[in-house]
Amino acid sequence: MNAESSVIEMRQLTRSFGDLVAVDHLDLAIERGEIFGLVGPDGAGKTTTLRLLAGIMQPTAGSASVVGHDVREQAEAIKHHIGYMAQQFSLYEDLTILENLRFFADIYQVSAAERRERIPRLLQFSRLERFTARRAGRLSGGMQKKLALACTLIHQPQVIYLDEPTTGVDPVSRREFWDILGDLHLEGITIVVSTPYMDEAERCSRVGLMFQGRLIACDAPAAIQNRIEGEMLEIRPDRLNGSAPALESLPGIHEVQTYGDMLHIFVDDAEQRIDAVRHTLADHGQQILWMRVTPPRMEEAFIHLVRKQAALKARA
Ligand SMILES: Nc1ncnc2c1ncn2[C@@H]1O[C@H](COP(=O)(O)OP(=O)(O)O)[C@@H](O)[C@H]1O
Ligand SMILES: [Mg+2]
Repeated sequence: MNAESSVIEMRQLTRSFGDLVAVDHLDLAIERGEIFGLVGPDGAGKTTTLRLLAGIMQPTAGSASVVGHDVREQAEAIKHHIGYMAQQFSLYEDLTILENLRFFADIYQVSAAERRERIPRLLQFSRLERFTARRAGRLSGGMQKKLALACTLIHQPQVIYLDEPTTGVDPVSRREFWDILGDLHLEGITIVVSTPYMDEAERCSRVGLMFQGRLIACDAPAAIQNRIEGEMLEIRPDRLNGSAPALESLPGIHEVQTYGDMLHIFVDDAEQRIDAVRHTLADHGQQILWMRVTPPRMEEAFIHLVRKQAALKARA
């Protein structure tokens, strides 16, 4: 990868807490203008990675640079170039939307002239213009996240880190938030965003799947989805009866994942294998209530990659 165009570079970046390796030898370069999704379950190491890249936590091994500055040596310089919306980003609840923006403008020493130009633009951008006098504490969850994003942008950073910016927000607001990220992306801002939601991962230009501190896959969303071969049979049986191992031993069946009350069966060719699947389920006293054939999504690809990783570890 061309180092010149990489705005963020990690080289064996590692952070341990005692015996726990929270971020485990990450080698990754993020290019200018990407929306890079850091995806993984709780405890995967997403927040720690973002803290390291923001220069607010030091690596225990390895290194990283952000806009040409080393995270160990030049953490202060990095802070001017980045915006960081922490997972527990705190707005001042007693201050209005406008006052919060002014407060963050003060912190970042944004000049009066720049404020006059930027604040109306950020309000429009974040679709908050109509509510400027409302106190932050009285905003909906979705509006608070949009205000936090606007505050993160007040000093016009080239790079922003957003740590689970939509967790706990309703689906409509989640979509709107991502539309705003799309606008920022068009303006050329580099976005690194962590999320536990796989549908959001599909909106990134590239995704890094984190699990137990490691990057277990890193690619464009479509390329990650393509790592699961064939088709997926999505089946709702009348009961879950432990038939997965029997199904997995059938020819042409790659993998079976249970998903709530559903079975996701990965097959080379759904049409060719459906009869055998039906018989095996019947042998286990299960009837098919509902079924469809779909291409695998990010969610299934992720589970597939995690299972593969766990199997490798078990063998080692
Ligand atoms: N300051 C800390 N002290 C000790 N352990 C920590 C600290 N921060 C994170 N961890 C641990 O590191 C691992 C990764 O945490 P984190 O980066 O917060 O993951 P994520 O954001 O993906 O949920 C977890 O096991 C967490 O408990
Ligand atoms: Mg986190």
